[in-house]
Amino acid sequence: MLRMDVQRKGSAAENGNVRGSDILCTLAESEECNFSKLMERPRPLNLERKRSLDERSLNELSIALSPHLSLRNSESSTRLNDPFGYFLSPDRRSGYNTPRAENGYDTHPMVAEAWEALRRSLVYFRGQPVGTIAALDNSEENLNYDQVFVRDFFPSALAFLMNGESEIVKNFILKTLRLQSWEKKIDRFQLGEGVMPASFKVLHDPVRNNDTLIADFGESAIGRVAPVDSGFWWIILLRAYTKSTGDTSLAERSECQKGMRLILSLCLSEGFDTFPTLLCADGCCMIDRRMGVYGYPIEIQALFFMALRCALLLLKQDVEGKEFVERIVKRLHALTYHMRGYFWIDLKQLNDIYRYKTEEYSHTAVNKFNVIPDSLPEWVFDFMPTRGGYFVGNVSPARMDFRWFCLGNCIAILSSLATPEQSTAIMDLIESRWEELVGEMPLKVCYPAIENHEWRIVTGCDPKNTRWSYHNGGSWPVLLWLLTAACIKTGRPLIARRAIELAEARLLKDSWPEYYDGKLGCYVGKQARKFQTWSIAGYLVAKMMLEDPSHIGMVSLEEDKQMKPVMRRSNSWTF
Ligand code: GLC
Repeated sequence: MLRMDVQRKGSAAENGNVRGSDILCTLAESEECNFSKLMERPRPLNLERKRSLDERSLNELSIALSPHLSLRNSESSTRLNDPFGYFLSPDRRSGYNTPRAENGYDTHPMVAEAWEALRRSLVYFRGQPVGTIAALDNSEENLNYDQVFVRDFFPSALAFLMNGESEIVKNFILKTLRLQSWEKKIDRFQLGEGVMPASFKVLHDPVRNNDTLIADFGESAIGRVAPVDSGFWWIILLRAYTKSTGDTSLAERSECQKGMRLILSLCLSEGFDTFPTLLCADGCCMIDRRMGVYGYPIEIQALFFMALRCALLLLKQDVEGKEFVERIVKRLHALTYHMRGYFWIDLKQLNDIYRYKTEEYSHTAVNKFNVIPDSLPEWVFDFMPTRGGYFVGNVSPARMDFRWFCLGNCIAILSSLATPEQSTAIMDLIESRWEELVGEMPLKVCYPAIENHEWRIVTGCDPKNTRWSYHNGGSWPVLLWLLTAACIKTGRPLIARRAIELAEARLLKDSWPEYYDGKLGCYVGKQARKFQTWSIAGYLVAKMMLEDPSHIGMVSLEEDKQMKPVMRRSNSWTF
């Protein structure tokens, strides 16, 4: 029998300061241009911008780390070019005070309904809101859908931040941090100190009128899967909170600094690795069942990259923090090179792989991972448009998973793991493969579905992940916020608008399902929960972002200019 022992551990006090102005972040001029084209309404002109680490290159950071230079003394290059006042407005509200908007924007009637549903999903601990329940659907067995999932809370958190309600986000960040400090054991095995829970639940004792928390670090989850993504989402959320509120004091707290370092220790530790990517077991992320996402799944690699970049912005330059900053900078260099080169595929790259020689030995090998051209699936030749490309699902020795995964590709755009050219190419692909990836309901979690014998082998005959259902090519409304954010960042708002319109035709009518089934995503998912909170929050975030693109700053990091020369659009494995 599995047993979970938890004990609370105290956290050590630490010293040092993060300077507020260094954490507040800005966006690239190129994005501002895109936004200015998007927005016709006049904007307030009252905001002062400070230069942030977003705009600083890794190389610059490496230099700054030298003893002669202070990492934080770059105020002289403060930029104040925000003519539209889009960015850095801690107290700006999107105007979505429940139940109706007050800012004069046209809002869809669904918006008010969504806010009400989102508020109903709030979970309280000793009188304070600490998160949102995964789904409020009483018609199905609860399983763990009555818990607050870290990954599911992310879009809820964005919605609250965009609405100026930051307290719940702060509570969530601190509560989950307390959970991280529990001693975690599964059977006789002790989990890593930095592991963040997949989810938690508040138990209310009506007799004693007391609340207690229980957390799941994978020991109760179906298949005992490891939530590798949780810690990354936590760091990314801490940065979104800081960016949105301007409140640097939360990230500065010693317990937050320690929490970050613990997460980073787990993924920056030295081992037998030959690649800078992070090796994971199957089911380690949003796709939390066996689906062939073991190895080096794109979702985790993109989140890893983004979390590293966010940590770089948030870590203090004290003795401990500095050591991590150095390790992060090194890892980001290697990770960027590896991902942009080896995970990237477009028509030219596909053609190169198709013609690969195999069994090459030594440093001169072109086909470094010994991918056998015969392993190329037939569908990929039809799927690949003349213009466009994407990061493939997985790369490891003799294995490339050519499936397209939504979350990883969108996070690659937002984090600037993708170069601007690659970002454009990802959007081009979505546009030209609209029917396959969006169809009737945005958006496919991955494409294509696996079927028949392959489904048997890869999923272990999983009846929930049959073809074009759930994680196996199902359509997930939550992904709408990621698509919208990627659209805004790349200056393609019309794509987001089309997708949102599709969602508006169905979501409320169908009671906010968790996912849709079918090649075109026409059918409410076989086992989909209704009133799935991240479907609701995903819609709200998409709406608010499109109406006020300045919100993108919370979830977007601009490109590190120093990494640019490494990448060419259609790169092969030879550089
Ligand atoms: C399912 C999803 C997972 C999500 C959870 C709660 O297990 O696969 O990504 O976090 O439901 O909604």
